Amino acid sequence: MTQGPSSEKSAAKRKPVKITTLRRMKERGERITMVTAYDATFAQMFDEAAIEMLLVGDSLGMVVQGHDNTLPVTVDEVIYHCRAVARGTRYAHIVGDMPFMSYATPDEAVRNAGRFLAEGGAHSVKLEGGEEMAETIRRIVSAGIPVVAHVGLTPQHVHAMGGFRVQGKTEAAAERVLRDARAVEAAGACAVVLEGIPTDLAADITATLNIPTIGIGAGAECDGQVLVSYDLLGLTPNFQPKFVKRYAEMFSDGIEAAKAYRDEVKSGAFPAREHTFGIVKRDNPLFTVAEDPKRVAGSGGGGYGPQG
Ligand code: KIV
Repeated sequence: MTQGPSSEKSAAKRKPVKITTLRRMKERGERITMVTAYDATFAQMFDEAAIEMLLVGDSLGMVVQGHDNTLPVTVDEVIYHCRAVARGTRYAHIVGDMPFMSYATPDEAVRNAGRFLAEGGAHSVKLEGGEEMAETIRRIVSAGIPVVAHVGLTPQHVHAMGGFRVQGKTEAAAERVLRDARAVEAAGACAVVLEGIPTDLAADITATLNIPTIGIGAGAECDGQVLVSYDLLGLTPNFQPKFVKRYAEMFSDGIEAAKAYRDEVKSGAFPAREHTFGIVKRDNPLFTVAEDPKRVAGSGGGGYGPQG
């Protein structure tokens, strides 16, 4: 495997990632990175880090909305988040995740998939399922919409699977996952997410397919990896499954920051002189508060508020 392009260049200066880029990366043995994003700020952060694919995942139902699973998420909600992500992205390929029951029939699937591109600014859509989804994938792809497939552990089937369980552990089950992966490739998928399957099975699938495999809980032999951004940033303190590595501790850092802010507001240390705005007519008797030097200092702001 090679290292891939440097992340030194700013996102705006790099060539945007297309589905042809992903295929070329597989051919060159260059690993693909994908993370979930749900808003413009996080998208901008990952774009600057040269992450190639941003998935507006239906995992937003769990990490953003606080549900126990992804089933309540709607097409309108994912499209809303896609739009925000698209505004923060210059470089990455944006994948819109089709929610539960939004692709129950091929007609519905094509109609909804089109909305992700036309209204959400996504570049492709992702849907869960293997052989049984082949016809649906074919129809979406014929409409000119790239599809990322998703086989193995498919979270939208949580009840049918009896929970979030590793798939493909027996020989028969492994063959089924392999058949699923082959079927989605034959149907025209541009990449496939392999979730929650044994490493050897993911390696076999990766060697068999021409399209890139993106693993999550599927070992190191996949063509790329995907993680839920909240997991990799340490924003999900009560969720630490085996396949997740945390690269930051943003939840506990956030608590510390909020405590420091609270303490400083209570003590009067914040806002300090440099965070406050001056008054133009200091001698106007109406503005007696301006006599207090702590209150009159500073001008120039930024962000959401007045500029001074
Ligand atoms: O919705 C999501 O975040 C996903 C990833 C786990 C692949 O489907």
